[in-house]
Amino acid sequence: MRGIKGIGLIKMNNLPIEWLGDRVRILDQTRLPQEEVYLELGSYQDIASAIAELKIRGAPAIGVVSAYAVALSALEIESKSKEGFLERLRGISQTLAATRPTAKNLFLAIERMEQVANAGEGVEQIKKALVDEAVKIHSEEVEATRRLSQLGAELIENGFTILTHCNTGALATAGYGTALGVIRQAKAQGKKLKVLATETRPLLQGAGLTTWELKKAGIPFTLITDSMAGYFMKRGEVDCILVGADRIAANGDTANKIGTYTLAVLAMEHGIPFYVAAPTTTIDLSLTSGDEIPIEQRSPEEVTHIQGVSIAPDGTQAANPAFDVTPHYYITAIITEKGIITEPYVERLKGIQGVR
Ligand code: MRU
Repeated sequence: MRGIKGIGLIKMNNLPIEWLGDRVRILDQTRLPQEEVYLELGSYQDIASAIAELKIRGAPAIGVVSAYAVALSALEIESKSKEGFLERLRGISQTLAATRPTAKNLFLAIERMEQVANAGEGVEQIKKALVDEAVKIHSEEVEATRRLSQLGAELIENGFTILTHCNTGALATAGYGTALGVIRQAKAQGKKLKVLATETRPLLQGAGLTTWELKKAGIPFTLITDSMAGYFMKRGEVDCILVGADRIAANGDTANKIGTYTLAVLAMEHGIPFYVAAPTTTIDLSLTSGDEIPIEQRSPEEVTHIQGVSIAPDGTQAANPAFDVTPHYYITAIITEKGIITEPYVERLKGIQGVR
């Protein structure tokens, strides 16, 4: 895959997601940063489990692998009648859709695959069309993050310290990254930057994955715990905050990794610009506000344990919402591949997206 001037794909043994014709290869993100282990997944069930277990994660990346999962499952369906084939495919799509409810990219990819299947002539033609569509979804996501990284980098000034949350890089997008793509592109433009990366409790995507990507990209960074963010903002040590998104409602309200809302409120208190970077596949114009975004609730064990080690007394009740919603009025701008959007989001998001 080609790179853009200055910004290259992160150097890994293989790409984070690769279609191998009859299986998908992914980099197992649960083994990072210790080991670069690749998994070859040959069935939609394997892909659904990998998504649920966060072996592959990040909204754009799970959209891409779920499209490949639909394509893979289609190749295995034996029905010769289109009706029987479509019925089986619907069941598989439902299984995939149930893996992670918040990321819009997952649902959009599945919807696109269903539309292609419904429009097809015969079963064999549909199978081929589904593989082609999955490859297309993949390359469009890569291109979108490439473009939004270029656009967003214009907002970053030489000497900036940028605070970011969770992991929004090549790993999360199968391409260049969203918030992290913007940071990498700004660095490629010759700007001197520093990054404050939050560890991102409970699953530590910032500590394990963002630091791994920043190190590979040669960008200076400091790891902080989530609760240190306010300290650094109050000291005037943060120039802007850049995060990704899992779903953006029509009014600009944005669901992203738990803790994002807290950062946005603190940013406003300290007059710090708060940017969301996301491809337009994350925008959901069918939801009028963030109140309607489904929030994934994950196992309490992810909070009571760190990497399998218990940190709380047995029987401790823990809550584990995986995402929160940042109201649009905290967001300075939304960086997409089709442009940088500011208030009024209702009109401007519709303008770039067309009604979906
Ligand atoms: O639970 P995760 O690790 O899938 O959550 C990921 C995030 O919240 C990211 O910020 C978001 O998906 C955008 S990634 C480009």
